[in-house]
Amino acid sequence: MELNELVKIRRSCRRYIDAQVKEEDVKEIIECARLAASWKNSQTGRYYVALSEEAKKAVYEALPDFNRRSSANAAYIVASFKKGLSGGIGEGKMSEEGDLWGAYDLGLQNSYLMLKASELGYDTLIMGLRDVEALRTYFAIPEDEIIMPVIAIGKRENELKLGARKQLDEILKIR
Ligand SMILES: Cc1cc2nc3c(=O)[nH]c(=O)nc-3n(C[C@H](O)[C@H](O)[C@H](O)COP(=O)(O)O)c2cc1C
Repeated sequence: MELNELVKIRRSCRRYIDAQVKEEDVKEIIECARLAASWKNSQTGRYYVALSEEAKKAVYEALPDFNRRSSANAAYIVASFKKGLSGGIGEGKMSEEGDLWGAYDLGLQNSYLMLKASELGYDTLIMGLRDVEALRTYFAIPEDEIIMPVIAIGKRENELKLGARKQLDEILKIR
C-alpha cells in the first residue's frame, strides 16, 4: 500500500471488534519499527506485548477507565526506551535535551510500528495515560527503561475519520 494511503488509513481507533492479533504479525510490525533512525544508531526502544488473555487483562487494568473503554478487545504493546543512551555526546555526557532524544527515537519507531500495523490490517491507539509501575511490575521492565505509551492494537469496529489538522501555513515556514 502506498505511504499516503497508509497515513490516511491510520487513525486512532477507540472501538475494537473481538479479533485475534497474530504473534507473527506483531513480529513483522516490530521488525519494521526496528529499521527507524535513532541517535547514533543507539536503538534504545524496547517492546512488551500482551497477546494472552492474562497479559491483556494485566495491561487493561493498568489503564484509566476511559482508555479501558477505548481499548476493550484489543491487544497491547507497551513501548519503552533505555535511558541515558540516546542523546549521549561521549565521555558519559548527554546533550542538553537529555533523554528527550530517547523519547524522540521511540516516537520514530512507533510511527513505523503503527503504519506497518495499518498495512497488515490492524488499527492502533497510542495511550499516554497508564499506570507505569503496574506495567513495570507485570512485564519485569528494568528500572533503566523509561516506559512511554501503551499502544492498543486490534481491528476497528467502526469507520474512523481524520480529525481536524492545522493548516500548512500555521506549522511551516520556508525562507
Ligand atoms: C503521545 C500521545 C499520547 C496519547 N494518549 C492518548 C490517550 O491516553 N488516550 C486516547 O484516547 N488517545 C490518546 N492519544 C491519541 C490522540 O488523541 C490522537 O492521536 C489525536 O487525537 C489525533 O487523531 P488520530 O490519531 O486519529 O490522527 C495520544 C496520542 C499521542 C501521540
